[in-house]
Parts: sequence; structure tokens; C-alpha cells
Amino acid sequence: MEWPWKQNPWFETVLEAQRRAKKRLPPSVYAALVAGSERGTTPRDNTGALAELEFAPHVAGHQPERDLSTSVLGIPISLPVLISPTGVQAVHPDGEVAVARAAAARGTIMGLSSFASKPVEEVVAANENTFFQLYWTGSRDDMIRRMDRARAAGAKALIATLDWSFSIGRDWGSPQIPDKMDLQAMIRFAPEGIVRPGWLLEWAKHGIPDLTVPNLQPPDGPAPTFFGAYGEWMQTPPPSWDDVRWLREEWGGRFLLKGITRVDDAKRAVDIGADAISVSNHGGNNLDTTPATIRCLGPIADSVGDQLEVLLDGGVRRGGDVAKALALGARAVMIGRAYLWGLAANGQTGVENVLDLLRMGLDSAVLGLGHSSIDELSPADLWIPQEFSRTLGADAGAGEIAPLGSATEDTTKG
Ligand SMILES: Cc1cc2nc3c(=O)[nH]c(=O)nc-3n(C[C@H](O)[C@H](O)[C@H](O)COP(=O)(O)O)c2cc1C
Repeated sequence: MEWPWKQNPWFETVLEAQRRAKKRLPPSVYAALVAGSERGTTPRDNTGALAELEFAPHVAGHQPERDLSTSVLGIPISLPVLISPTGVQAVHPDGEVAVARAAAARGTIMGLSSFASKPVEEVVAANENTFFQLYWTGSRDDMIRRMDRARAAGAKALIATLDWSFSIGRDWGSPQIPDKMDLQAMIRFAPEGIVRPGWLLEWAKHGIPDLTVPNLQPPDGPAPTFFGAYGEWMQTPPPSWDDVRWLREEWGGRFLLKGITRVDDAKRAVDIGADAISVSNHGGNNLDTTPATIRCLGPIADSVGDQLEVLLDGGVRRGGDVAKALALGARAVMIGRAYLWGLAANGQTGVENVLDLLRMGLDSAVLGLGHSSIDELSPADLWIPQEFSRTLGADAGAGEIAPLGSATEDTTKG
């Protein structure tokens, strides 16, 4: 018989999953997920701006059946929500494999970070619709090798994340994360583990988290540690648009450029042959006071939405947020923290729980707004405050976009 006072593992909102994650995870691991940089203005605006948009629901004439399905880069998905790549360690022993299984079970796409804790081969085995994410790090040969490996594993698209600018200080303090779990680190982190016995027990069944990044493993050595890989990235000269074009051509397959907030950059993404972009500010972990992505979405979708697929990520915590992003021109959204909270709260089932909540919330919005399909969502479904949108980098018209750096040779080390 179950304990009568045992908590129902199902949670009814993403914020409840976050509360459970906070209770379950060691404080350092939880703080690494909350993230955000400097004042934390951007992550606050990501969620706050979504709440500023208001729905205009109907009272009757609702549709009895509603279609929430769509496709992204040619892959049919049962709801317009994808897993955004997150390079996070030690949340759960099954890590990205559990997330990939949950995404497969709910009929959607898994985005796998190159800084993830599980190898791309295992993740693709768990979800055949996996997109592999790469940063501009290492030499061109390193990048070619990593792309070859992801392609051979069966990754269906490449996500190039290019917005990172190493702005990492946080006014409320960064957690101390060890480079590897050696004896010294275990002694230092023992007090955090002792106060989180559930998390500790789960890991005790699987062994200690090794904090390495297997997808960046060189052919002739062990996988680097997270901070070893981060060091390589910091030393890599940043890419020009010619470099990005090279990356796109070298990959050859479907290519999603993540991190766009400006209209002119969205046009450049079209120019280099990207198939999709994500309007993203890295969940507010990057350059603080970048506006909420939902504010940047409309102008970008209006400008390039007929030339490539426009996705959005940042601040999505409920199905209504998904409906708002679609109404302003996104084809689908990607989620980060929402599924991380679910994973921490209840493993694979917790991620499924999050995807179910987003599906139910989206369905409620489509029902209330009187539609039979997500394709019918439009700005007319919303009340949009004046001066809500941010049109960044829109001075230049199409064809007048300066290339922004014109390196034609390999500027990277190696
Ligand atoms: C802890 C954490 C780690 C992340 N790591 C990566 C990463 O490795 N690669 C990447 O492209 N984006 C990364 N992101 C950004 C997410 O893919 C996504 O853009 C962001 O989380 C969306 O905002 P949300 O968390 O409010 O949903 C990370 C985000 C968080 C919170």
C-alpha cells in the first residue's frame, strides 16, 4: 500500500514543477538551471512580456475539434513545442536520454546540446527526431568532426547557436560548480547532497555524475570536462557571417540558426541559406537587457517569415504562451527551463507532464479563441499593448545588409 500522504507525482503547472525541482536539487544545481545574467532583466522580461499580451476569447461558437499539430523543418510534430538544447549536468542520471524519450512519447523533436551529458548516439536512439546543437568552438576540423559524428548518429538537423557573448556575472551570485567530481569536490559538495536525499539516492543507483561533455570528445583522448570545453570555446575567435555560411554549407542538411533578435540578422540568416531561425536570447543567460524574445518576434516574422521557418524560445511556461507566440508569427516554440524543472521533479514522466500541460493549455487557448487549428491563430486574437514590439536592427532594407565581418579563411585555432 502507498503512503496515504505521498505527494501526487503529477504537477498541474510548470511553476509547481519548478518548486519541486528547487526542493529536490542541490542548491548549486538548481541555481545553474535558474541561470540568467547580470541583473536578470532579460529572463524576467521573457516571462513578463508574455503575460502583458492579453487574449480576446469568444463566448460561443467554439470548435469541437482542434488540430495542434504542425511540422518543423519537414518533421511532423503533434504539438508546436520542441525541446531546446541545454547543456546541463547532474539534474538527473538519465539526463538528455530521459528528455529525448519524453519528447518521442509526446511526438516532438529533441534538441541536444553539444555541452550535454549524454552522447548523441544514445539520444538519437531514444528519439529519432533529434536536432544536434553546435557552438562556434574549436578549429574548423573539430567542427567538421563533430558534425560528421552527429550526422552519422542520425541527427535530423543542425542548430547553430551563435548568440553567446560570455557575459556570465550574476548580481545574486553564481553557484560554484566543480570541474570534475573528484574526492575533494565530493567532500566540498557533501553538505548539499545530504540535504537532498532523494536526488542523492537516485544518483547512488547510477554512480557519480562525471561532468564531462561526450559530444566534444576528440578522436585521440577522453571527453573534455564541461569547463575544459568552455575554455576551448572562449579561446575560439568569434565567427563572421562568412564563417556561418561555411558552417551551413559544411553541414549540408537542415540548418537552424538560434539566437536571432534583430531583423537585419534574420535577413542575413536568409542570405546564408538557413532553413529556420529561433528568435532567442538564450533564455536571458546572455547579454542582459536584451528585450524579451516575444517583443522581437513580430517584426522578424513579418520580415522573413515567408523565407524560412521562424521559431521562438524564451520564457514559455504555459500553453497560452505558445498560443501567443504562434499568433505573432512563430511556427513553433522551443522550451528550456520548463522541461528542466520537469526532469528534476520527476524524470522522463516529469518532462512528459510538462509537454502535456503545454498541450492542454494551448488547446484551451485555441478553444477559447474559437479556432479549429493552430494555423488560424493571428494577432487579432490578442490585445497587444502599445509599444510592445521591439524592432531591432531594421534600418537596412533587404539587399542592403552589410556582411558584418568578411573573414574568408579559417580564423579559428588548430
Ligand atoms: C541551464 C541552461 C543551459 C542552456 N544551455 C544551452 C546550450 O547548451 N545550448 C543552447 O543552444 N542553448 C542553451 N540554453 C538556452 C536554451 O536552449 C533556450 O534558449 C532557453 O532556455 C529558452 O528560455 P527558457 O528557459 O525561458 O525556456 C540553456 C539554457 C539554460 C537555462
